[in-house]
Amino acid sequence: MDDTRSDTRSPSERIRVLFVCLGNICRSPLAEGVFLHLAERAGVADRFEVDSAGTGDWHVGERPDPRAEAVARKYGVELPSLARQVTAADLQRFDYIVAMDRENLWSLERMAKERRGGPSRAKIHLLRDDDPDRAAGDDRHDVPDPYYGGPSGFDQVYQMVHRSAEALLRRLLAQSSRR
Ligand code: 4NP
Repeated sequence: MDDTRSDTRSPSERIRVLFVCLGNICRSPLAEGVFLHLAERAGVADRFEVDSAGTGDWHVGERPDPRAEAVARKYGVELPSLARQVTAADLQRFDYIVAMDRENLWSLERMAKERRGGPSRAKIHLLRDDDPDRAAGDDRHDVPDPYYGGPSGFDQVYQMVHRSAEALLRRLLAQSSRR
């Protein structure tokens, strides 16, 4: 990523990105950690505010699943988050809400429809919309839920998340420089 601007942006100018899965202990903390890691490596972390949340509330307050932490550690990525549930206010606060699978996407779209106080600000889409390895017409849009599987599922999820987050970061930077 070639971004030579070195200014420090005020919090209100930052691009706000929220990654969302079901439990907020496996996929979305990985996406948050990887996106932050890539932004730091590209010297553009100060241009973003990044967070993650779950559509469910079962794990609120918990650290990420140890298998997610292990795969992140293997690639030198830290996972800073504690699980929280997505709220209607997030739809207004964030510029982009990035869902891990179609079920998460539908839950978010339902929330947006039911939300009082006018249309949401956030653009809601799937992480794998930006996956460069997803062939045209490929309907495998989802980052599969690795929670009930073994550790190899976490490695596959990591690769998918990494590819997609890298492309997402590049796209958001390109879009923001055109504004
Ligand atoms: P995540 O995985 O949505 O990637 O965090 C899950 C974690 C926990 C549960 C489901 C999915 N659960 O049912 O508790």
